[in-house]
Amino acid sequence: MADRVAGPTTRIEGPDGIEGPDDVRAALRLHGYLADQGLATVVYLALVLHRPLLLEGEAGVGKTEVAKVLARWRASDLLRIQCYEGIDVSQAVYEWDYARQLLHLRAAEARAEGSGRPVPETVEDELYSERFLVRRPLLAAIASPKDRPSPVLLVDEVDRADDEFEAFLLEVLSDYSVTVPELGTFHAVVPPVVVITSNRTRDVADALKRRCLYHWVEHPDFEREVEIVTVQAPEVLPVLARQVAAAVERIRALGLYKPPGVAETIDWAQALAALGVRTLDEASVAATLGAAVKYREDAERVREAGIAALARAAVERAGVERAG
Ligand SMILES: Nc1ncnc2c1ncn2[C@@H]1O[C@H](COP(=O)(O)OP(=O)(O)O)[C@@H](O)[C@H]1O
Ligand SMILES: [Mg+2]
Repeated sequence: MADRVAGPTTRIEGPDGIEGPDDVRAALRLHGYLADQGLATVVYLALVLHRPLLLEGEAGVGKTEVAKVLARWRASDLLRIQCYEGIDVSQAVYEWDYARQLLHLRAAEARAEGSGRPVPETVEDELYSERFLVRRPLLAAIASPKDRPSPVLLVDEVDRADDEFEAFLLEVLSDYSVTVPELGTFHAVVPPVVVITSNRTRDVADALKRRCLYHWVEHPDFEREVEIVTVQAPEVLPVLARQVAAAVERIRALGLYKPPGVAETIDWAQALAALGVRTLDEASVAATLGAAVKYREDAERVREAGIAALARAAVERAGVERAG
Protein backbone atom coordinates (compact mmCIF):
# COMPACT_ATOMS: atom_id res chain seq x y z
CA MET A 1 0.00 0.00 0.00
CA ALA A 2 1.39 3.33 -1.03
CA ASP A 3 1.96 5.94 1.61
CA ARG A 4 -0.41 8.84 1.49
CA VAL A 5 1.42 12.02 0.71
CA ALA A 6 0.23 14.78 2.94
CA GLY A 7 -0.29 17.99 1.02
CA PRO A 8 0.22 21.38 2.56
CA THR A 9 -2.59 22.26 4.87
CA THR A 10 -3.62 25.76 5.69
CA ARG A 11 -5.54 26.21 8.84
CA ILE A 12 -7.99 29.04 8.59
CA GLU A 13 -8.57 30.92 11.79
CA GLY A 14 -12.18 30.95 12.90
CA PRO A 15 -13.77 33.22 15.48
CA ASP A 16 -12.53 32.73 19.03
CA GLY A 17 -12.86 29.17 20.19
CA ILE A 18 -14.79 28.13 17.08
CA GLU A 19 -13.25 25.21 15.31
CA GLY A 20 -16.07 23.93 13.17
CA PRO A 21 -19.79 23.86 12.41
CA ASP A 22 -20.57 22.05 15.67
CA ASP A 23 -19.14 24.93 17.67
CA VAL A 24 -21.21 27.38 15.64
CA ARG A 25 -24.30 25.31 16.27
CA ALA A 26 -23.62 25.29 20.00
CA ALA A 27 -22.96 29.03 20.10
CA LEU A 28 -26.15 29.83 18.19
CA ARG A 29 -28.14 27.55 20.45
CA LEU A 30 -26.72 29.31 23.49
CA HIS A 31 -28.18 32.51 22.07
CA GLY A 32 -31.58 31.09 21.30
CA TYR A 33 -31.24 29.90 17.70
CA LEU A 34 -31.47 26.25 16.78
CA ALA A 35 -29.69 25.62 13.49
CA ASP A 36 -29.49 22.37 11.59
CA GLN A 37 -26.16 21.02 10.38
CA GLY A 38 -26.40 22.57 6.92
CA LEU A 39 -27.02 26.05 8.22
CA ALA A 40 -24.39 25.76 10.96
CA THR A 41 -21.86 24.70 8.34
CA VAL A 42 -22.55 27.58 5.99
CA VAL A 43 -22.49 30.09 8.86
CA TYR A 44 -19.14 28.70 9.96
CA LEU A 45 -17.77 29.04 6.45
CA ALA A 46 -19.09 32.58 6.13
CA LEU A 47 -17.26 33.51 9.32
CA VAL A 48 -13.92 31.91 8.50
CA LEU A 49 -13.83 32.77 4.82
CA HIS A 50 -15.27 36.28 5.34
CA ARG A 51 -17.87 35.71 2.67
CA PRO A 52 -21.38 37.18 2.59
CA LEU A 53 -24.11 34.69 3.36
CA LEU A 54 -27.21 34.57 1.17
CA LEU A 55 -30.11 32.87 2.90
CA GLU A 56 -33.11 32.08 0.80
CA GLY A 57 -36.33 30.42 1.89
CA GLU A 58 -40.00 30.90 2.55
CA ALA A 59 -41.16 33.58 4.94
CA GLY A 60 -40.83 32.65 8.58
CA VAL A 61 -38.20 29.92 8.34
CA GLY A 62 -35.70 31.87 10.45
CA LYS A 63 -33.52 33.76 7.95
CA THR A 64 -33.55 37.23 9.50
CA GLU A 65 -33.06 35.73 12.93
CA VAL A 66 -29.69 34.31 11.83
CA ALA A 67 -28.29 37.83 11.52
CA LYS A 68 -29.78 38.85 14.84
CA VAL A 69 -28.37 35.86 16.67
CA LEU A 70 -24.95 36.36 15.09
CA ALA A 71 -24.89 39.91 16.47
CA ARG A 72 -25.99 38.71 19.92
CA TRP A 73 -23.41 35.96 19.97
CA ARG A 74 -20.53 38.16 18.83
CA ALA A 75 -21.67 41.14 20.90
CA SER A 76 -21.45 43.26 17.77
CA ASP A 77 -23.70 45.86 16.22
CA LEU A 78 -26.49 44.76 13.94
CA LEU A 79 -26.81 47.11 10.98
CA ARG A 80 -29.99 46.42 9.10
CA ILE A 81 -31.16 47.42 5.67
CA GLN A 82 -34.78 46.53 5.06
CA CYS A 83 -35.09 46.41 1.28
CA TYR A 84 -38.09 47.69 -0.62
CA GLU A 85 -38.87 48.70 -4.16
CA GLY A 86 -37.05 51.90 -4.97
CA ILE A 87 -34.54 51.75 -2.09
CA ASP A 88 -31.55 53.86 -3.04
CA VAL A 89 -28.14 54.99 -1.92
CA SER A 90 -29.44 57.66 0.45
CA GLN A 91 -31.28 55.08 2.52
CA ALA A 92 -28.72 52.32 2.32
CA VAL A 93 -25.32 54.00 2.21
CA TYR A 94 -25.18 57.66 3.19
CA GLU A 95 -26.74 61.04 2.76
CA TRP A 96 -25.86 64.58 3.68
CA ASP A 97 -27.67 66.21 6.56
CA TYR A 98 -29.08 69.13 4.58
CA ALA A 99 -30.79 70.79 7.51
CA ARG A 100 -27.61 70.96 9.56
CA GLN A 101 -25.54 71.99 6.54
CA LEU A 102 -27.93 74.86 5.96
CA LEU A 103 -27.74 75.97 9.59
CA HIS A 104 -23.96 75.86 9.42
CA LEU A 105 -23.98 77.96 6.26
CA ARG A 106 -26.41 80.51 7.74
CA ALA A 107 -24.27 80.84 10.84
CA ALA A 108 -21.17 81.43 8.69
CA GLU A 109 -23.05 84.01 6.66
CA ALA A 110 -24.23 85.78 9.78
CA ARG A 111 -20.70 85.85 11.16
CA ALA A 112 -19.40 87.21 7.87
CA GLU A 113 -22.03 89.92 7.78
CA GLY A 114 -21.24 90.94 11.35
CA SER A 115 -17.55 91.27 10.59
CA GLY A 116 -18.11 92.89 7.21
CA ARG A 117 -16.00 90.26 5.45
CA PRO A 118 -17.04 87.73 2.78
CA VAL A 119 -17.95 84.17 3.74
CA PRO A 120 -14.66 82.22 3.92
CA GLU A 121 -14.11 79.69 1.14
CA THR A 122 -13.38 76.97 3.68
CA VAL A 123 -17.04 76.89 4.63
CA GLU A 124 -17.90 74.90 1.54
CA ASP A 125 -15.38 72.19 2.47
CA GLU A 126 -16.72 72.14 5.99
CA LEU A 127 -20.21 71.50 4.64
CA TYR A 128 -19.02 68.29 3.02
CA SER A 129 -17.02 66.95 5.95
CA GLU A 130 -17.77 63.86 8.01
CA ARG A 131 -19.55 66.05 10.52
CA PHE A 132 -22.52 66.35 8.17
CA LEU A 133 -22.39 62.87 6.74
CA VAL A 134 -25.25 60.61 7.81
CA ARG A 135 -23.99 57.06 7.72
CA ARG A 136 -26.61 54.57 6.67
CA PRO A 137 -26.07 50.86 7.43
CA LEU A 138 -23.84 49.98 4.46
CA LEU A 139 -21.37 52.77 5.11
CA ALA A 140 -21.57 52.24 8.86
CA ALA A 141 -20.68 48.58 8.30
CA ILE A 142 -17.71 49.43 6.08
CA ALA A 143 -16.41 52.29 8.21
CA SER A 144 -16.98 50.77 11.63
CA PRO A 145 -14.38 51.49 14.33
CA LYS A 146 -11.41 49.10 14.49
CA ASP A 147 -11.68 48.56 18.22
CA ARG A 148 -15.16 47.03 18.01
CA PRO A 149 -16.03 43.51 16.83
CA SER A 150 -16.88 43.68 13.14
CA PRO A 151 -20.59 44.44 12.82
CA VAL A 152 -23.24 42.22 11.32
CA LEU A 153 -24.74 43.77 8.20
CA LEU A 154 -28.22 42.45 7.47
CA VAL A 155 -29.57 43.15 4.00
CA ASP A 156 -33.08 41.90 4.57
CA GLU A 157 -35.43 40.74 1.81
CA VAL A 158 -33.15 41.75 -1.05
CA ASP A 159 -35.70 40.32 -3.49
CA ARG A 160 -37.84 43.39 -2.83
CA ALA A 161 -35.16 45.80 -4.04
CA ASP A 162 -34.56 46.37 -7.74
CA ASP A 163 -31.72 45.19 -9.96
CA GLU A 164 -29.84 48.47 -9.66
CA PHE A 165 -29.63 48.17 -5.91
CA GLU A 166 -28.49 44.57 -6.22
CA ALA A 167 -25.75 45.60 -8.64
CA PHE A 168 -24.67 48.32 -6.27
CA LEU A 169 -24.62 45.89 -3.37
CA LEU A 170 -22.47 43.52 -5.36
CA GLU A 171 -20.01 46.31 -6.02
CA VAL A 172 -19.74 47.12 -2.32
CA LEU A 173 -19.40 43.48 -1.33
CA SER A 174 -16.71 42.73 -3.88
CA ASP A 175 -14.12 44.93 -2.19
CA TYR A 176 -15.86 46.14 0.97
CA SER A 177 -15.40 49.75 0.11
CA VAL A 178 -17.68 52.71 -0.41
CA THR A 179 -16.80 55.94 -2.15
CA VAL A 180 -18.29 59.23 -1.10
CA PRO A 181 -17.27 61.61 -3.90
CA GLU A 182 -16.81 64.63 -1.61
CA LEU A 183 -14.76 62.72 0.96
CA GLY A 184 -13.00 59.80 -0.65
CA THR A 185 -13.14 56.03 -0.27
CA PHE A 186 -13.93 54.20 2.95
CA HIS A 187 -12.44 50.75 3.12
CA ALA A 188 -13.34 48.13 5.73
CA VAL A 189 -10.37 47.18 7.91
CA VAL A 190 -12.16 44.01 8.93
CA PRO A 191 -15.02 43.04 6.63
CA PRO A 192 -18.42 42.99 8.31
CA VAL A 193 -20.32 39.75 8.68
CA VAL A 194 -22.90 40.05 5.91
CA VAL A 195 -26.23 38.24 5.91
CA ILE A 196 -28.50 38.76 2.91
CA THR A 197 -31.97 37.27 2.97
CA SER A 198 -34.47 36.64 0.21
CA ASN A 199 -38.00 35.27 0.32
CA ARG A 200 -37.53 34.46 -3.34
CA THR A 201 -40.40 36.49 -4.70
CA ARG A 202 -37.97 36.83 -7.62
CA ASP A 203 -34.56 35.37 -8.34
CA VAL A 204 -31.49 37.14 -7.05
CA ALA A 205 -28.93 37.94 -9.78
CA ASP A 206 -26.39 35.22 -10.48
CA ALA A 207 -23.48 37.60 -9.95
CA LEU A 208 -24.62 38.35 -6.42
CA LYS A 209 -25.20 34.67 -5.75
CA ARG A 210 -21.70 33.89 -6.94
CA ARG A 211 -20.24 36.38 -4.52
CA CYS A 212 -22.06 34.79 -1.59
CA LEU A 213 -22.21 31.50 0.20
CA TYR A 214 -25.71 30.27 -0.47
CA HIS A 215 -28.09 28.32 1.70
CA TRP A 216 -31.73 27.42 1.21
CA VAL A 217 -33.41 27.49 4.62
CA GLU A 218 -36.11 24.86 5.04
CA HIS A 219 -38.83 24.78 7.62
CA PRO A 220 -37.41 22.99 10.65
CA ASP A 221 -38.23 19.33 11.05
CA PHE A 222 -40.65 18.27 13.76
CA GLU A 223 -38.24 17.69 16.64
CA ARG A 224 -36.31 20.90 15.99
CA GLU A 225 -39.48 22.93 15.77
CA VAL A 226 -40.60 21.52 19.11
CA GLU A 227 -37.29 22.63 20.56
CA ILE A 228 -37.61 26.08 19.03
CA VAL A 229 -41.04 26.53 20.64
CA THR A 230 -39.65 25.31 23.96
CA VAL A 231 -36.77 27.77 23.78
CA GLN A 232 -38.76 30.77 22.50
CA ALA A 233 -41.92 30.18 24.53
CA PRO A 234 -40.90 28.37 27.72
CA GLU A 235 -44.35 28.99 29.21
CA VAL A 236 -45.86 26.49 26.77
CA LEU A 237 -46.07 22.97 28.19
CA PRO A 238 -43.83 20.51 26.30
CA VAL A 239 -46.81 18.28 25.39
CA LEU A 240 -48.65 21.20 23.83
CA ALA A 241 -45.50 22.34 22.02
CA ARG A 242 -45.24 18.90 20.44
CA GLN A 243 -48.87 18.86 19.40
CA VAL A 244 -48.71 22.30 17.85
CA ALA A 245 -45.51 21.47 15.96
CA ALA A 246 -47.18 18.29 14.71
CA ALA A 247 -50.27 20.21 13.59
CA VAL A 248 -48.14 22.79 11.80
CA GLU A 249 -46.19 20.04 10.06
CA ARG A 250 -49.46 18.66 8.70
CA ILE A 251 -50.76 22.05 7.68
CA ARG A 252 -47.56 22.74 5.76
CA ALA A 253 -48.15 19.58 3.77
CA LEU A 254 -51.46 20.95 2.45
CA GLY A 255 -49.78 23.15 -0.15
CA LEU A 256 -51.18 26.41 1.14
CA TYR A 257 -50.61 29.78 -0.44
CA LYS A 258 -48.76 30.87 2.70
CA PRO A 259 -47.75 27.92 4.88
CA PRO A 260 -47.19 28.79 8.54
CA GLY A 261 -43.60 29.72 9.47
CA VAL A 262 -41.83 29.21 12.76
CA ALA A 263 -43.14 32.52 14.08
CA GLU A 264 -46.69 31.24 13.49
CA THR A 265 -45.93 28.01 15.31
CA ILE A 266 -44.66 29.98 18.30
CA ASP A 267 -47.66 32.35 18.19
CA TRP A 268 -50.09 29.50 17.93
CA ALA A 269 -48.57 27.63 20.86
CA GLN A 270 -48.63 30.81 22.94
CA ALA A 271 -52.24 31.53 22.00
CA LEU A 272 -53.34 28.03 22.98
CA ALA A 273 -51.38 28.19 26.22
CA ALA A 274 -52.94 31.57 27.02
CA LEU A 275 -56.37 29.99 26.61
CA GLY A 276 -55.41 27.22 29.00
CA VAL A 277 -55.53 24.51 26.33
CA ARG A 278 -53.65 21.39 27.35
CA THR A 279 -54.49 19.09 24.46
CA LEU A 280 -55.46 20.00 20.91
CA ASP A 281 -58.99 19.16 19.86
CA GLU A 282 -61.33 20.30 17.13
CA ALA A 283 -62.73 23.23 19.10
CA SER A 284 -59.38 24.65 20.24
CA VAL A 285 -57.84 24.36 16.77
CA ALA A 286 -60.86 25.94 15.10
CA ALA A 287 -60.86 28.81 17.59
CA THR A 288 -57.17 29.64 17.18
CA LEU A 289 -56.41 28.70 13.58
CA GLY A 290 -55.91 32.37 12.73
CA ALA A 291 -52.66 32.34 14.70
CA ALA A 292 -51.21 29.86 12.23
CA VAL A 293 -52.97 30.49 8.94
CA LYS A 294 -53.37 34.07 7.78
CA TYR A 295 -55.29 33.76 4.50
CA ARG A 296 -58.98 33.04 4.20
CA GLU A 297 -58.44 30.59 1.32
CA ASP A 298 -55.76 28.78 3.31
CA ALA A 299 -58.03 28.52 6.36
CA GLU A 300 -60.73 27.16 4.05
CA ARG A 301 -58.31 24.56 2.75
CA VAL A 302 -57.44 23.46 6.31
CA ARG A 303 -61.13 23.15 7.17
CA GLU A 304 -61.76 21.13 4.05
CA ALA A 305 -58.98 18.75 5.03
CA GLY A 306 -60.74 18.33 8.39
CA ILE A 307 -59.94 20.06 11.63
CA ALA A 308 -60.97 17.21 13.89
CA ALA A 309 -58.72 14.84 11.97
CA LEU A 310 -55.89 17.35 12.11
CA ALA A 311 -56.13 17.65 15.89
CA ARG A 312 -56.29 13.86 16.34
CA ALA A 313 -53.32 13.24 14.08
CA ALA A 314 -51.30 15.95 15.82
CA VAL A 315 -51.97 14.48 19.26
CA GLU A 316 -50.98 11.07 18.00
CA ARG A 317 -47.80 12.30 16.29
CA ALA A 318 -46.83 14.30 19.36
CA GLY A 319 -46.97 11.19 21.51
CA VAL A 320 -44.32 9.46 19.42
CA GLU A 321 -40.94 10.21 20.97
CA ARG A 322 -37.86 10.60 18.85
CA ALA A 323 -36.25 7.22 18.28
CA GLY A 324 -32.59 6.99 19.34
N1 LIG B 1 -34.07 27.95 14.13
C1 LIG B 1 -34.68 28.83 14.93
N2 LIG B 1 -34.36 28.91 16.24
C2 LIG B 1 -34.99 29.78 17.04
N3 LIG B 1 -35.97 30.63 16.64
C3 LIG B 1 -36.33 30.58 15.36
C4 LIG B 1 -35.71 29.70 14.43
N4 LIG B 1 -36.26 29.88 13.23
C5 LIG B 1 -37.18 30.83 13.38
N5 LIG B 1 -37.24 31.26 14.66
C6 LIG B 1 -38.16 32.28 15.19
O1 LIG B 1 -39.18 32.46 14.22
C7 LIG B 1 -39.42 33.84 13.97
C8 LIG B 1 -39.40 34.12 12.49
O2 LIG B 1 -38.11 34.04 12.00
P1 LIG B 1 -37.53 35.07 10.95
O3 LIG B 1 -36.05 34.99 11.02
O4 LIG B 1 -38.13 36.40 11.14
O5 LIG B 1 -38.05 34.44 9.59
P2 LIG B 1 -37.73 34.88 8.09
O6 LIG B 1 -36.75 36.00 8.15
O7 LIG B 1 -37.19 33.65 7.44
O8 LIG B 1 -39.03 35.29 7.52
C9 LIG B 1 -38.38 34.64 14.73
O9 LIG B 1 -39.00 35.39 15.70
C10 LIG B 1 -37.47 33.61 15.37
O10 LIG B 1 -37.37 33.91 16.74
MG1 LIG C 1 -37.16 37.93 7.48
